[in-house]
Amino acid sequence: MEHSFKTIAAGVVIVVLLLQQAPVLIRATDADPLQDFCVADLDSKVTVNGHACKPASAAGDEFLFSSKIATGGDVNANPNGSNVTELDVAEWPGVNTLGVSMNRVDFAPGGTNPPHIHPRATEVGIVLRGELLVGIIGTLDTGNRYYSKVVRAGETFVIPRGLMHFQFNVGKTEATMVVSFNSQNPGIVFVPLTLFGSNPPIPTPVLVKALRVDAGVVELLKSKFTGGFKTITAGVVFVVLLLQQAPVLIRATDADPLQDFCVADLDSKVTVNGHACKPASAAGDEFLFSSKIATGGDVNANPNGSNVTELDVAEWPGVNTLGVSMNRVDFAPGGTNPPHVHPRATEVGIVLRGELLVGIIGTLDMGNRYYSKVVRAGETFVIPRGLMHFQFNVGKTEATMVVSFNSQNPGIVFVPLTLFGSNPPIPTPVLVKALRVDTGVVELLKSKFTGGCHFITQRN
Ligand SMILES: *[C@@H]1O[C@H](CO)[C@@H](O)[C@H](O)[C@H]1NC(C)=O
Ligand SMILES: *[C@@H]1O[C@H](CO)[C@@H](O)[C@H](O)[C@H]1NC(C)=O
Ligand SMILES: *[C@@H]1O[C@H](CO)[C@@H](O)[C@H](O)[C@H]1NC(C)=O
Ligand SMILES: *[C@@H]1O[C@H](CO)[C@@H](O)[C@H](O)[C@H]1NC(C)=O
Repeated sequence: MEHSFKTIAAGVVIVVLLLQQAPVLIRATDADPLQDFCVADLDSKVTVNGHACKPASAAGDEFLFSSKIATGGDVNANPNGSNVTELDVAEWPGVNTLGVSMNRVDFAPGGTNPPHIHPRATEVGIVLRGELLVGIIGTLDTGNRYYSKVVRAGETFVIPRGLMHFQFNVGKTEATMVVSFNSQNPGIVFVPLTLFGSNPPIPTPVLVKALRVDAGVVELLKSKFTGGFKTITAGVVFVVLLLQQAPVLIRATDADPLQDFCVADLDSKVTVNGHACKPASAAGDEFLFSSKIATGGDVNANPNGSNVTELDVAEWPGVNTLGVSMNRVDFAPGGTNPPHVHPRATEVGIVLRGELLVGIIGTLDMGNRYYSKVVRAGETFVIPRGLMHFQFNVGKTEATMVVSFNSQNPGIVFVPLTLFGSNPPIPTPVLVKALRVDTGVVELLKSKFTGGCHFITQRN
């Protein structure tokens, strides 16, 4: 009797331990897609995690592309002095299930994007013009440390999911930034509005105690935020829906972080998924910021006529564990980023100058359909994880794009190089059979890619 009681008790202990670990095991980020595309049917009455899909046949060709953020909003239309042009799933049904979205924010001099939190996404951003003070506040674990920097045109920043942050235009001119999220619907909790303008309101004694000021101060603060709660309540409904769907959310993309920051120790000999962390005290202040892609590479240095300036975890140790990274690619006229696949990330990109033909090929399920469009400055595109795609400069001038990934290390499989320049090579008879051509053609193709595998082995 006593023995079996002990057994039961041990079982209970194990269950309790498992439950304590449960929050760690449930990855509460966007679900991995189960098809190439699921263009959101925003009118559907069906409730799922995200939106129901339109039939692929009814989706047309345009859903992978958007010109919504090619222009910004009026920065003087509201007291914040900033105007957010959103491009999440509500504005861009094509990103449904793909785990990415974008915003453009324009700022008047002195304008601000007030302190806020994205509950469902890490953010990676680039300043396109002007000078923005970007401030990020760590959790209690990091001593509530405030990290900040004036970020200028071409410079980038990263903001871990759930941390409070803001942008403030410290320049004399208007400023513009484009930010990407590793969610189709990052959500937003405006901190002042949440504290002082909730519906119904947080009782004043609670805020008096919390803020250590008297009731007069709290009432004054509340008076500044009356009637401003509509955005927030919509957000809460989404959070509740997401929580109800929790089991659907277990997935196999970059791990959710277990701390604010884990700046990669690229010299560590320890092997983990990603990189071991430097001690926070040794990381300094700069790891949230990078100016690596403020300038592009030489587009005439190689036969592709394009030059990729990478900004994944190897170049930006600060994104380790955060599930995001960026690249800048510059193109000569006629230059190309040859057909390739990112095995570990969905990509969302914006053309900064010039005209790029962006081509994406669906899987067999989609009849290997080729989707393409000439994307111009300010226009955006999305490329589902694992699909083959390319960019080609069809303009008369150089072109530049910035792409973001929902992985710190998206990986790349260059398709021609993989077929014809692997190390050791794929046997010629295999390629003859696969390509339905004779040996001479395969050997010719192979001869074009000899010695070209260094790039790939290096990435692995
Ligand atoms: C943003 O600017 C547009 C005009 O471009 C305006 O219609 C809109 O009201 C502005 N939004 C806010 C929140 O001020
Ligand atoms: C200004 O910021 C507040 C958050 O403090 C936000 O609730 C409000 O929507 C913003 N105003 C506009 C018009 O963008
Ligand atoms: C990209 O351009 C830089 C110079 O800006 C050059 O050093 C580098 O070799 C180029 N990369 C490739 C792959 O052509
Ligand atoms: C050109 O593209 C091939 C893929 O076809 C790639 O292996 C190679 O690294 C690229 N060359 C340069 C120098 O960027």
